[in-house]
Amino acid sequence: MDKLIIHGGKKLSGEIPVSGAKNSALPVLASGLLADGTSRFRNIPDLADIRSMMGLLSELGANVKMGPDGTVEMKVVDESNSYASYDRVRKMRASICVLAPLLAKRRYARVSMPGGCAIGTRPVDLHLQGLEALGARISLDNGDIVVKANRLKGNKIFMGGPFGSTVLGTITVICAASLAEGMTLIESAACEPEVVDLANCINSMGGHVAGAGTPRITVEGVESLSTCEHTVIPDRIETGTFVVAGALAGDRLKICGCRPEHLIALLDKLDRAGVNIRTGEETIEISSKKHPAAVDVTTQPYPGFPTDLQAQLMVFLAVAAGNSTVTEKIFPDRFMHVPELNRMGAKIRKEGQTSIITGVKRLVGAPVMASDLRASAALVLAGIVAEGITEVLRVYHIDRGYERIAEKLNAVGAEIERAVE
Ligand code: EPZ
Repeated sequence: MDKLIIHGGKKLSGEIPVSGAKNSALPVLASGLLADGTSRFRNIPDLADIRSMMGLLSELGANVKMGPDGTVEMKVVDESNSYASYDRVRKMRASICVLAPLLAKRRYARVSMPGGCAIGTRPVDLHLQGLEALGARISLDNGDIVVKANRLKGNKIFMGGPFGSTVLGTITVICAASLAEGMTLIESAACEPEVVDLANCINSMGGHVAGAGTPRITVEGVESLSTCEHTVIPDRIETGTFVVAGALAGDRLKICGCRPEHLIALLDKLDRAGVNIRTGEETIEISSKKHPAAVDVTTQPYPGFPTDLQAQLMVFLAVAAGNSTVTEKIFPDRFMHVPELNRMGAKIRKEGQTSIITGVKRLVGAPVMASDLRASAALVLAGIVAEGITEVLRVYHIDRGYERIAEKLNAVGAEIERAVE
């Protein structure tokens, strides 16, 4: 296993590019199972999770190949295997994205029930309720979800759950409804930009999805979907991670090729903390502020503050002037980064789904353990702003969702090296 060795205290300046969105690329690639013919997807990031999805799609009968420029060409050539095994799904729970396209196109799918992960139990009950409402017959067999249907039928479906809307659950229903007979109305749909991107991809295949980005989405089913050319949106969570890096150690750090409008909640919090931010059409320029003001944050579905940036913002609050609170309403257990940050001198106390942060003057480098994708990104940010050397172990977590993160940060002044643990 690899580790990252980070020499702290460096200033970050210059331009840092953003890659395509992992959480859009995964469902978009899976939606290629719906189309007849060859689809072309652009701006696909080169990540471990993307390679996992491409491996799964080839097992499901697709010819999938990624070019050097992040373009993926995909053509389904054999529909005989519709099984996503436990071995596949346990490595990447977003494999659930193939369930609906297989059901809609092939009328059958067997996908291993995703297990939990470091941030929570990760149920898929809302996905299954949505598919059942469209006429799917669902059973659980030896840990696998088995779904069958004749042609799915449109319906009115409420997708709200105990923690609000569901991103991949909404995407599941859009994909299934796109080939159903008649109209589907999704109430309490997720509004994330990744849902909008997937809907745009389905529409470019000849689908009829309206209202994506709002809590009420309609899908008018069609007989078939054709090939498409779709470019995936920039990764707003990678962007937000670099924005926090700038807020911690930036000297006019400029994040390029991003969508500032996808990050209004984060930019609002940093503005209230007194950080100097300038946004352009596709750029965010940011410089750090010494002892920024403490702010309170609660994670919510989009456009609220994203749970995927909670750990990163906590690093910023750990060195703010005063006391802050971070309340996690989406994944209440998503605080595995807290004890690791405390090893670096942070003063954070977890009380249920809220962490109380007493700002300190500085963090001090230490060996720390990555536990999940976004927690590991937060530990890299902590290492950049800390005094001394930080070693982030189990770096495979970060490779799942950040393309060349060490190279990108080193190019703007960080000092990060990768070594074998
Ligand atoms: C997506 O996961 C993202 N993953 C997550 O990013 C992100 O944290 C999450 O949305 C919330 O924004 C991908 O897009 C691949 P949810 P998803 O369904 O869709 C509960 C990262 O770091 N729920 O919106 O699986 C669930 O437990 C990852 O990139 C049910 O109860 O999340 C959670 O509390 C981590 N039943 C809440 O809803 C269901 O059937 C929101 O989850 C589904 C979800």
